[in-house]
Amino acid sequence: MTPLDIRNTHPSSLFLGIDTLYHIKNNALTYYQNLQLSYGDAVRIRLGPYRCWFIFHPSHIESVLATKANSFIRFEKIMNILKQWNGNSLLIAEGKSWKNRRRKVLPSFAQQRIPNYAEVVCNLAQEFTQSLISKVDTEGSHKCLIDNEMANFSLAIACKTLFGKSLGATSQPISEAVNCLSEIAYRETTSPFTIPNFIPTPANRRKKKVIEIMANFIQKIVSDRIEQRSSEEPDLLSTLIRHHDNNSTAIEEDVISLLIAGHETSGATLSWLFILLAKHPEIQHKVHNELDRAVGSSQVSYQDLKNLPYLNAAIKETLRLHPAAYALFCRQATEDVDIGEALIKKGDLVQILPYVTQRDSRWFKDANQFCPERFLGGESWPKYAYFPFGAGPRICIGQSFGMMEVALTAAMVLQKLSLSTTAGSFEETARFSLRPHQDISLLFSNRI
Ligand code: HEM
Repeated sequence: MTPLDIRNTHPSSLFLGIDTLYHIKNNALTYYQNLQLSYGDAVRIRLGPYRCWFIFHPSHIESVLATKANSFIRFEKIMNILKQWNGNSLLIAEGKSWKNRRRKVLPSFAQQRIPNYAEVVCNLAQEFTQSLISKVDTEGSHKCLIDNEMANFSLAIACKTLFGKSLGATSQPISEAVNCLSEIAYRETTSPFTIPNFIPTPANRRKKKVIEIMANFIQKIVSDRIEQRSSEEPDLLSTLIRHHDNNSTAIEEDVISLLIAGHETSGATLSWLFILLAKHPEIQHKVHNELDRAVGSSQVSYQDLKNLPYLNAAIKETLRLHPAAYALFCRQATEDVDIGEALIKKGDLVQILPYVTQRDSRWFKDANQFCPERFLGGESWPKYAYFPFGAGPRICIGQSFGMMEVALTAAMVLQKLSLSTTAGSFEETARFSLRPHQDISLLFSNRI
């Protein structure tokens, strides 16, 4: 591994770090990259009453996420914001309570269950592809705003796989509520002060309403299912109910977390994949060739995925350049931890950024280039230089599910359609997750 870059100089901050929050709100990605360029692999800044470490080196990342994970919790202030609608779900819980939750949710994501979910994804992806084809106009293409399109599609998948339901008439209010919660999460976690909930500002009233919409929606689905006593449905909810012993609060909390955590990340990854393929016709051509060889004109199925290594590499490369979780949840040390070159003190915060480490030219040649080939040979980078799903005990529970969803949808769409774009450059929006700018449109054309 290339030596660490420890400079032991740290940026000074104004007004206890308010200037840092300002930079993060304005241009988070550039700010984080510049921190590493200017100050090296372990950078300490002041954020209000806290010392906050930004760590970029794979060996330090391994310490915090894996080998010394027991010395850290997720930063309580941020978790308290997310708790407002996630309750004490798997995403939020800590210690014994988290272990217990993880044990109960894990069977829903067991490898042998993935083919069941894949069937649902195949059906929806086929409908989606058909709807794109039907919109191709007389000029031979259909133009769509990719971020909107993929967000709606991934929400439909999350609902159908989680609780076997199409959203139907509730689609609009639920997708608005989910987007709104993501915006609230971003706004409140990056603001130095938030106005307490009991003060009825328009933003607080809107938040209350949106949380109610989501809670009522999920409560109804869970209570109907518990009443029906039909635990044999092939969806995630039936497995959750079985393993949560009908504890409806716990089930509702985990369902809402899975819905939000699963939908936004997968939707963003699909959007980025399609944008990158549209921008790189030569790589899209290789994906098309692989699909033609491995699947031809047959219906794409879950079994085909193992014969599509190039597509799989393109997805991994997309997750390297545009990780939906561009920053992991901020951690806080529960005791003094020596991670080698940095002594993290009890109470210090630690921020880890896949977006920065995964673009580090020490680990990735031509780090800013889209090059799926790098994932085809053996991996030539340190293990913790690439971690789009996190790492250690709190690694993403939906990793296999998410990869399957993205791969199957991409395979189905690309079997029939080609992508192009007239946009010269495309902007990233670092909100709660890393999404393409709302206005990026792609052209879908029939493959002849
Ligand atoms: C491409 C898609 C996805 C990406 C990039 C992604 C990324 C991540 C990352 C980076 C973490 C760790 C966060 C941290 O340690 O701070 C995480 C955790 C989590 N993810 Fe995903 N995720 C994806 C899909 C999904 C799906 C489909 C689901 C569920 C249906 C899901 C549910 C969760 C949950 C519940 C956690 C928290 C696990 C715990 O704390 O024990 N994710 N995800």
